[in-house]
Amino acid sequence: MILSPSDENIQKAADLLSLGEVVSFPTETVYGLGANALSAPACNKIFALKGRPASNPLIVHVHSLTQAKSLVHPACPEKTLELFSQLATFWPGPLTLVMPKAPAIPDIVTAGTNSVGIRIPQHPTALKLLYASNIPIAAPSANISNYISPTTAQHVYDNFGESVPVILDGGNTSVGIESTVLSLRDPSMPRILRPGVITKQMIEEAIGMPVYLADAAQGRGQSPGLLPLHYAPHTELRFLADTDLDSYIREKIGYIAFSEGKHLEYDFHSIMVLSHNNNLSEVAAKLYHALQEMDALGLDLIVIDQCLESGVGEAIMDRLHKAIKRYS
Ligand code: TXA
Ligand code: MG
Repeated sequence: MILSPSDENIQKAADLLSLGEVVSFPTETVYGLGANALSAPACNKIFALKGRPASNPLIVHVHSLTQAKSLVHPACPEKTLELFSQLATFWPGPLTLVMPKAPAIPDIVTAGTNSVGIRIPQHPTALKLLYASNIPIAAPSANISNYISPTTAQHVYDNFGESVPVILDGGNTSVGIESTVLSLRDPSMPRILRPGVITKQMIEEAIGMPVYLADAAQGRGQSPGLLPLHYAPHTELRFLADTDLDSYIREKIGYIAFSEGKHLEYDFHSIMVLSHNNNLSEVAAKLYHALQEMDALGLDLIVIDQCLESGVGEAIMDRLHKAIKRYS
C-alpha cells in the first residue's frame, strides 16, 4: 500500500521493520526496499521479493555516525577509520562506504564477505524512519532484480504490488540515480565500485589522495553491481549516435534527449527532454523516470543521448552502458 509519509505512517513502517517485515521508503537517490539489517530472516525476505542472487550484498542505512560506527569491525585499521571520518562529511548523502564489517551483521547482508556497505541517506522520510525504528536498515533499490531502480512510490508499487505492505511516498527522488559506492577495504587504494553524483574528484578532494575507478572486469567479485547486466528497461535501448534511424522507418521510436532542440526533423513517436542545456545533475535526476515512462509506451526502440564520462557523466554513462549491453 502506498502511504503518505505522516508521522503515524512512518511509525507504522518502523513497527513493521521491528517485526521483521519489509517496507519501502524514499531516499534522495532511489526508493529502497528495507528490512532490519541485523535480522537474517528479515533480510532474506528482501532477496526473495527482488529475485536477487545471494551473491549481491545489501547497503545498510543508518541515521548517525555513531550508528554507522557500530557496524564497523572493532579491529578496523586506523587509516581506514581516518578516511571514513573524512568521507562522512558527505553524509547524509548519496555515498556508500564499504568497510570491514562488525560481527553482528548477518552474512546474508554482506553476501558472505567480511565487508559492509554503509550510508546515511539524506531524504527526510528515510531519516525519520531510521530514527523511529532505531535499527540499521538494509535496503537495496526497490525494484525486481535487473529492472530500473524506482524514483517514485508508484514505480515501487508497479514492481511489487501489495506484497510490500507499506510504501512510504516521498515524491520524485531528487538525485535520481543510486549512491556512489566506495570501498575503503584497502586504505592505500580507495576504489569506486559504482560511480554516482559524489564524483571521483569530490572524493579525492575530501581525502587528499587518488581514488581508483574499478572497471567492470576488475570489480567483478568485489561488487556484483558492476556486472554489466543491470538497470535495464524492457524496450530495446540504444545510443542515438549508434543508430541508423532510417533503418527503423516503420517502427515506433522514443527519444530521450539531454538538451533541447536536437534531431527534431525525425518523426519520433515520443520525445523527452531531460535538461534545457545538458545539465548532467538534471539528466541524472530524470533519467530513470524517463526510461520508465518510455518503457510503458509500447515502443519498438528507445534512443538516448550520451555525455562525457567525467563528473556526474561518469555515473550516467555507467548506467546507460549497462542498460544497453543487454541488447548489443
Ligand atoms: O542509492 C542507493 O545506493 C540505493 C538506496 C536505496 O540507498 N540502494 C541501492 O542498493 O542502490 P542496491 O542493492 O541496488 O545496490 C547496492 C550496490 C550493489 O552494487 C552492491 O553490490 C554494492 O552496492 N554493495 C553493497 N554492499 C557491498 C559490500 N559489502 N561490498 C561491495 N559492494 C557492496
Ligand atoms: Mg539496485
